[in-house]
Amino acid sequence: MEALEAILGRRSIRKYTAEPVSEADIDTILHAAMAAPSAGNQQPWHFVATVDREQLERMAETTPYGAMLREAPLAITVCADTRALKHDVMWQQDCGAATQNALVAIHALGLGAVWLGFWPKMERVEPLRNVLGLPAGVEPFCVLAVGHPAETKPPADRYDAARVHRDRW
Ligand SMILES: Cc1cc2nc3c(=O)[nH]c(=O)nc-3n(C[C@H](O)[C@H](O)[C@H](O)COP(=O)(O)O)c2cc1C
Repeated sequence: MEALEAILGRRSIRKYTAEPVSEADIDTILHAAMAAPSAGNQQPWHFVATVDREQLERMAETTPYGAMLREAPLAITVCADTRALKHDVMWQQDCGAATQNALVAIHALGLGAVWLGFWPKMERVEPLRNVLGLPAGVEPFCVLAVGHPAETKPPADRYDAARVHRDRW
């Protein structure tokens, strides 16, 4: 799939078949995520790939908006190790870039995913930290529920010329 086609065609997919995501696809998704830019190239990210059904159930309990984790064959938690950062206020942006790279790669592979927001919602972050056994200082930024799509969505054309300002506001 062409890069622009993947970017423009990506949608949040919340229904999945039971088919597992292959290890080769997981590897490709994580390569795409780690190709992201980061502040000072600090690459603060770590990723927890979860396929264990009981663990996915526990993860679903940590957010009010994550019921799809009960069906998804894979969750990828994007984390940041904040214990030795060069640019300490930038890690969320670094993780956002990695997350979007992963989402586009997932779509390009013919898979589907949805971004589940966690950080800085501490009432979600702390339960997820416990479920995943994250050390203090390793922050869970978001979770991607991933699988083979059991729903299709057309591309969303959100281009709005009124949001574009030339030379100054
Ligand atoms: C920071 C962030 C947090 C989100 N959290 C959730 C979530 O908790 N649950 C969910 O179902 N979707 C979540 N989404 C997905 C959005 O609802 C979705 O991207 C938006 O409605 C646009 O739809 P699209 O992704 O199909 O283009 C989140 C997206 C972002 C960027």
